[in-house]
Amino acid sequence: MHASGALVVAIDGPSGSGKSSVSREVARRLRLAYLDTGAMYRAAAWWCLHQGLELADRSAVAEAVRAMPLRMVLDPAAPAIEVGGHPVAEEIRSTGISSVVSAVATNLEVRAELGRRQRELIEAECQPGGLSGGRGVVAEGRDITTVIAPDADVRILLTASEEARLARRALDVHGSVDQASVEATRDQVLRRDAQDSTVVEFRTAAAGVVTVDSSALDLEQTVLAVLKVVKAWQARTR
Ligand code: DC
Repeated sequence: MHASGALVVAIDGPSGSGKSSVSREVARRLRLAYLDTGAMYRAAAWWCLHQGLELADRSAVAEAVRAMPLRMVLDPAAPAIEVGGHPVAEEIRSTGISSVVSAVATNLEVRAELGRRQRELIEAECQPGGLSGGRGVVAEGRDITTVIAPDADVRILLTASEEARLARRALDVHGSVDQASVEATRDQVLRRDAQDSTVVEFRTAAAGVVTVDSSALDLEQTVLAVLKVVKAWQARTR
């Protein structure tokens, strides 16, 4: 546990593992804050495109991200994200952003800047002034268990078979899981994960990280599986 008594839960996993919905619901039930770090990379891509930058121009992108006026609201009941006062939650989920966000997420200077902000946001939730009132945070992404919060109390890698992940994303994006939707999703999901895994390892669990496989579980069952890992940790440290 954090010196202040706050609980930090770190959850990593590939696209379609159910990470975001599961982390948000776990945060809500434990009355913790919820930090979606993928949304920060998406907002960075949105911000750079908005400024007419070429995402391949690594130093210009890094400079723009360092100046990005980003505001994250870590309320699991109503998470919000604004750039320069403009709410971007919907726009950053577009296929347009999904297909280019890796270019920003694989920029190491961008990772350093967003990583710094993520550590600050996590730290703020361990203090009484944070949204959770110092209760703590569930932070999810690709490198939270390994790079951003390797000393988190509970560290989980949420995995799912390729088949399950593609079906979930197809349902999210196309509203169906027929063959055509799954195929349309395949390139996006697999190519993005392959690209992202060149800079962060999120396919195998690091030492001390508990793997939860959600392939055969629905949302509620996955939430319960994650809560079980948290409770086991609490029982050990009590
Ligand atoms: O989880 P997501 O699809 O919203 O993530 C968006 C992008 O950001 C994706 O390319 C993976 C990347 N990402 C990352 O590199 N590190 C994180 N901690 C979170 C997301």
